[in-house]
Amino acid sequence: MNGPWPGGGTLEGAGVLITGGASGIGAAAARRLAAAGAKVAVVDVAAGPAQDVAAEVGGYALVGDVADPAVMPRLVAQAEALFGRLDLVFLNAGVVAHQSGTSELDLADYRKIVGVNVDHVVYGTSAAVPALRRAGGGTIIATASLGGLVPIPSSPLYTLTKHAVVGYVRAAGAALADDGIRMCALCPGFANTRLITDRMDQFADFPMLSAEDVADAMYTMLDRGQPGEAWYVQPGRDPGPYGFRGVPGPIGGVRPPRLTSR
Ligand SMILES: NC(=O)c1ccc[n+]([C@@H]2O[C@H](COP(=O)([O-])OP(=O)(O)OC[C@H]3O[C@@H](n4cnc5c(N)ncnc54)[C@H](O)[C@@H]3O)[C@@H](O)[C@H]2O)c1
Repeated sequence: MNGPWPGGGTLEGAGVLITGGASGIGAAAARRLAAAGAKVAVVDVAAGPAQDVAAEVGGYALVGDVADPAVMPRLVAQAEALFGRLDLVFLNAGVVAHQSGTSELDLADYRKIVGVNVDHVVYGTSAAVPALRRAGGGTIIATASLGGLVPIPSSPLYTLTKHAVVGYVRAAGAALADDGIRMCALCPGFANTRLITDRMDQFADFPMLSAEDVADAMYTMLDRGQPGEAWYVQPGRDPGPYGFRGVPGPIGGVRPPRLTSR
């Protein structure tokens, strides 16, 4: 077993699936993981860019809309068949809302952000868990956002979806750890990617991450992250697990075991 694991597990030959892999953080992660020896399936709704990134990293492009419940099971099965095993599933695709969600509602826009940012993480997890079990364990990382830990008043809907991801990962991380499946959330601050290019004027004086900074943080989390952790990623600061101080631990007392190298 060469899967990624805390404490120095190697990525050489590991089977990796990345959603939203055609652009920004997902593409940077594909490059980072492929450079470490992983075999990468680049999943995206944008076929051409997915094929470009896949060609660049010597991987495969798998095209589909991850908000469609039929798509993640199909793509996970394809990746597992291509690589013979799946060790890491990076549920990273995401969109922004084009409304606040606090007054008149654009229902299609609302369904879209919930579909991509929330439903896809649930569909992706439920599809990935049996494949990771077959591999003897592995890792699921979901890209949430700093907006999953603190509010973004200019975008309550984005805040809603990313808080949902953090809550899901914290609970599912505890539930899956006994199976040898580690689930963590990545919570980057603003990063210079296509997602926010049309809002750059808002960030003129704001310290920005690059997509590569976020991929590096994901790589560090891959080495050191523990089940159910949500890691903040901010410019000029080492990434690390958010503390959730002042509130109790998981209800029911279920604390995920700390995982060590194997
Ligand atoms: N850029 C930021 O400031 C920032 C900050 C925090 C979190 N994030 C999160 O990081 C993740 C990656 O975003 P990014 O900044 O790299 O943006 P990006 O727009 O560069 O990349 C997102 C990718 O997801 C793909 N995608 C969108 N909807 C899809 C769907 N239905 N099916 C399949 N693929 C789909 C897009 O085609 C694109 O390639 C997202 O979850 C985003 O919410 C971004």
